[in-house]
Amino acid sequence: MELSDGSVAVVTGAASGIGTALSRAFAAAGCAVVLADVDADALDAVADSIEGDVLPVVTDVSDAAAVEHLAEEAFGRFGAVHVLCNNAGVSTFNPLVAQTLDDWRWVLGVNLWGVIHGVQAFLPRLLAQGQPAHIVSTSSLAGLASGLPQLGPYNVSKVGVVALSETLRMELAMSGAPVGVSVLCPGTTPTQILESERNRPAALGREARVADGDAMRDAVRSGFDGPGARTAEQVADAVLDAVRSDQFWIITSGEMQGLVSSRFHEIAAATPAS
Ligand SMILES: NC(=O)c1ccc[n+]([C@@H]2O[C@H](COP(=O)([O-])OP(=O)(O)OC[C@H]3O[C@@H](n4cnc5c(N)ncnc54)[C@H](O)[C@@H]3O)[C@@H](O)[C@H]2O)c1
Repeated sequence: MELSDGSVAVVTGAASGIGTALSRAFAAAGCAVVLADVDADALDAVADSIEGDVLPVVTDVSDAAAVEHLAEEAFGRFGAVHVLCNNAGVSTFNPLVAQTLDDWRWVLGVNLWGVIHGVQAFLPRLLAQGQPAHIVSTSSLAGLASGLPQLGPYNVSKVGVVALSETLRMELAMSGAPVGVSVLCPGTTPTQILESERNRPAALGREARVADGDAMRDAVRSGFDGPGARTAEQVADAVLDAVRSDQFWIITSGEMQGLVSSRFHEIAAATPAS
């Protein structure tokens, strides 16, 4: 679909990292942008820094009513939405034995329920408006390679985002609705993802600090300077290209190509011939 003056994009997790880069890229393409994030101060700062028509809406994507409110605000202000980016995400970094139930609740609440809430609140409205639109949900290479150590809840959430997006693509293609779908699977991207806990609700406690988790954090941090890393701006450019060309898979780095292909080869080899 075309992005032009008059197009409206909604981006969750807009106050940092990939979400900020997406918001800037959509604004630069002439779109009005609705920026949603749970971090009110950072959201205001990002909204102030973007030229163009922007609407910041403080939103906790793990809360269905808050995402419904986001949709009401977006459609109320602009009358239509053309791109929805379900992008907000967080991670813990610990072996499964050290992940608490509240770790699971927090990560799945933001990364998976946040996307579910986005689809529930926006899809009926996108279908009803009868204009071309596109839903981009942020997964990760962890949603394709899966099984990455110290990232249990994150892996589960990101595999879920892939499954939800594939289902949505199939159903929308079958219905002929003019709504495209993409799943964004970034590799290592220098952002504040390692400091996710800054926005963790106090009611969900704190992450345990164990050596294996710290080692994983260090590995991710060192990857920020590695050859496979892409900037948030490069990731955002890939998303806009995919929206314009209706491309489903947005895989921004080949850094886990070996892991991804060996996983799928193992599955294929274990699958009996029909
Ligand atoms: N950075 C990477 O290497 C990488 C790799 C693969 C996938 N991703 C995914 O990219 C997405 C963006 O992450 P990022 O790397 O830009 O991290 P980031 O921490 O820089 O930005 C994430 C944003 O999400 C917001 N957020 C957290 N909880 C929220 C909630 N409950 N409701 C609304 N907003 C909330 C944060 O306030 C923050 O502004 C996430 O889904 C993440 O899993 C990141």
